[in-house]
Amino acid sequence: MELITKAPKGTVDIVPGKSEKWQVMEDVFRSEAELNGFGEVRTPVFEHTELFLRGVGDTTDVVEKQMYTFEDKGGRSITLRPEGTAGAVRAMLENGLYNAGYPVKLYYLTSCYRYEKPQAGRLRELHQFGVEMFGAAQPVADAQIIAMALSAFKRLGLEDVGLQLNSIGCPECRKEYHKALKEYFTARKDQLCDTCLSRLERNPMRILDCKSPECQEVAQGAPKITDYLCEDCKAHFAKVQEFLTALGIEFEIDPGLVRGLDYYTRTVFEFPSKSLGFALGGGGRYDGLVEEFGGKPTPGLGFGLGLDRIMMALEAQQVEFPQPVKCEAYIASMGDAAQTKALLLMEELHRCGIPADCDLCGRGLKAQMKYADKIGAKFTMVLGDNELEAGKAELKNMKTGEKRKIAISGQDFINDYVTVSTEAEDFSQDGIFF
Ligand code: HAM
Repeated sequence: MELITKAPKGTVDIVPGKSEKWQVMEDVFRSEAELNGFGEVRTPVFEHTELFLRGVGDTTDVVEKQMYTFEDKGGRSITLRPEGTAGAVRAMLENGLYNAGYPVKLYYLTSCYRYEKPQAGRLRELHQFGVEMFGAAQPVADAQIIAMALSAFKRLGLEDVGLQLNSIGCPECRKEYHKALKEYFTARKDQLCDTCLSRLERNPMRILDCKSPECQEVAQGAPKITDYLCEDCKAHFAKVQEFLTALGIEFEIDPGLVRGLDYYTRTVFEFPSKSLGFALGGGGRYDGLVEEFGGKPTPGLGFGLGLDRIMMALEAQQVEFPQPVKCEAYIASMGDAAQTKALLLMEELHRCGIPADCDLCGRGLKAQMKYADKIGAKFTMVLGDNELEAGKAELKNMKTGEKRKIAISGQDFINDYVTVSTEAEDFSQDGIFF
């Protein structure tokens, strides 16, 4: 039985009570993206496995250990997306979005799938808000997307988000660096885990973000990429810092930050939550990825923010969310004719965008009023034969107890309802702002 009453390990349901908070959080990210001229991209939940092998990199933890890969009935190797960047790059190329001119700016709110060991802040189905920008090689673009993420965190009311920054150079300056890393780790081979031993030849930089404590200890003393940057990469990184400083954004340079995905070049960054102890998001430049996928050489950059973790941080910080209005008007009824009228009036209110409800469970009048109270109705109205005959009913303000007679047919009903409800409106609102 457990198999059908319990969601798979590492997944969560987001149910009413919680989903309203998610909508508020997502609205803030959506609006931040749109303020910055990004358009939404929706890509398939599954892609050809090859896309992630080539894009994310076949020596990364994500590809080596975490992908949900299967063969479909046509014998193709398919993978549930473990992240959003590779699919966004493919969609940009496949749909020729570059034809509209650079920069191409895309954003997504999406689920991703990684076979990880579930724990606080680590899920197998996770959700991300991400942005990807193509065709902007200048360091000002790096600073702008970082500022954008921080602005959204601020609008959400998150106070303890840091910014860690590094540059991991370009393929040119990495050649020397790889040599130095190989030398360093070869001399300490016996302290590395099996996965890292296999990475030593193919991609020694991956050893730097291995999760095994032994490898992490060895990595502490490894050569730092920042000492190997070429002049262009150094200048780019200095400019990014200059722009961030001009924007008043504080950051910490972390020469050990290499990120867990292979496509990055130059700027990489993460947003740690100081109180929760994990990253709320991360990103960077990937100037070689579009070409890797068969496009013309095109610079790219972006970030992915972990929505599940951000929600944890918001809750831990007890950020106030606006209370959703489930029901503004509840129309109670007694008898068949009144029930039909209640249904019609409720529909009229819905047409005007007013959340309204009526009895759907055959409750008695007392139970209907109790229910109206439970769902937080601001106004109630009781319809019976007398009201139908008079063509009027009392609209009760549940907060003040005040009752006003209003018409119950046609446009008069809406006009009267709007007059009474507008007079009673409370415009004060705390918490997250839009
Ligand atoms: P990432 O660092 O792998 O980057 O993931 C971004 C964020 O997703 C993480 O910082 C974390 O908040 C969240 N996250 C990752 N894995 C999990 C998990 N198992 N459970 C809960 N949250 C998780 C990327 O995915 C890149 N595509 C970001 C990017 C976009 N870079 C450039 N453009």
